[in-house]
Amino acid sequence: MTTMQAIEYRGAGGPEVLVETERPMPVPGPGEVLVKVAAFGLNRADVQQRRGVYPPPPGASDIPGLEVSGTIEALGEGVVSAAIGQRVCALLAGGGYAQYVTVPAGLVIEIPQDVDLVDAAGFMEVAGTVVSNLFLEAGLTAGSTVLLHGGAGGIGSMAIQLAAAAGAQVLVTASSEEKIAHCLALGAYAGINYREEDFAARTLELTDGAGVDVILDVVGAKYLAQNVRILATGGTLVVIGLQGGAKAELDLRALMTKRARVMGTTLRARPLDQKEEIVAAVRKHALPMLAQGTLDLSIDRRFPFTEARLAHEYFDSGNHTGKIIVKF
Ligand SMILES: NC(=O)c1ccc[n+]([C@@H]2O[C@H](COP(=O)([O-])OP(=O)(O)OC[C@H]3O[C@@H](n4cnc5c(N)ncnc54)[C@H](OP(=O)(O)O)[C@@H]3O)[C@@H](O)[C@H]2O)c1
Repeated sequence: MTTMQAIEYRGAGGPEVLVETERPMPVPGPGEVLVKVAAFGLNRADVQQRRGVYPPPPGASDIPGLEVSGTIEALGEGVVSAAIGQRVCALLAGGGYAQYVTVPAGLVIEIPQDVDLVDAAGFMEVAGTVVSNLFLEAGLTAGSTVLLHGGAGGIGSMAIQLAAAAGAQVLVTASSEEKIAHCLALGAYAGINYREEDFAARTLELTDGAGVDVILDVVGAKYLAQNVRILATGGTLVVIGLQGGAKAELDLRALMTKRARVMGTTLRARPLDQKEEIVAAVRKHALPMLAQGTLDLSIDRRFPFTEARLAHEYFDSGNHTGKIIVKF
């Protein structure tokens, strides 16, 4: 086989720009493996790329897709950590919306025996984002309090479970009672419907005025002032999404008084050594739960490859909880 099926974005815009296409089969380079893709997970970054506001980093495929599951089909030179036929999930900088993709061997994880191959497509990007930000960056530990904005989304659903399992008290924001119920079922201690309540006031109420040690924020500018207001002394605000804009005023006095930190991260464009470190942390913090069956991958819907546009439409609707998967 010299070609494969893939999906590309023809122009920028809505789901209509998703077009099925044929591309050359990728060939694994030294240190890489070739994965035959069983399914890929949708992420907000795919939508941003589709809209033309989040181009792939230099060197990455123009084919969208940051996470897949599948089986290893071939090994590049020097790969000893993986084997042909192994069921894996992979963290990608792009290229996941295709029948085959190449990826550095250090960025795949073997899927535990009892985990569904298709559903495992929704694991790597969210687990990598959550583990790197909550544990490696913000130093979340047992007894910490954490506020997760967008608690019912793909990132939020994973973050609730990993933070709760680590012994943190988890508060979430979400836009409806149904979404809050989803978060509570996954282990959140309390949910705040931000459409009906002032999330900052409610967070202070729930923490007896102390505020929270860690905030994982997907909103950005619109929430900055309130987020800083509800950070506990020594707290960390990690901004990972800008759904509410990128530019806002920061009250440095409040930050100094609280000895607090505000930081931002992205996962996709990180150098390989950092991504390998993150994947190693995923093995430590999330994989054991996946293997034991105590981590719910929170798959909302699975669409066939031929309906990838519908999957994007559903993502755009904002009605989903957890992850959306597209399978071959
Ligand atoms: N920096 C990184 O490395 C990185 C990596 C992965 C993802 N991300 C970011 O993380 C965020 C979540 O990604 P995802 O894949 O989990 O997407 P998702 O499943 O669509 O979840 C996003 C959640 O954000 C909430 N939301 C949307 N607009 C909002 C607003 N204006 N105010 C408050 N909440 C809002 C939505 O819940 P409600 O309906 O409850 O509002 C939704 O559940 C995205 O912004 C994405 O870009 C960043």
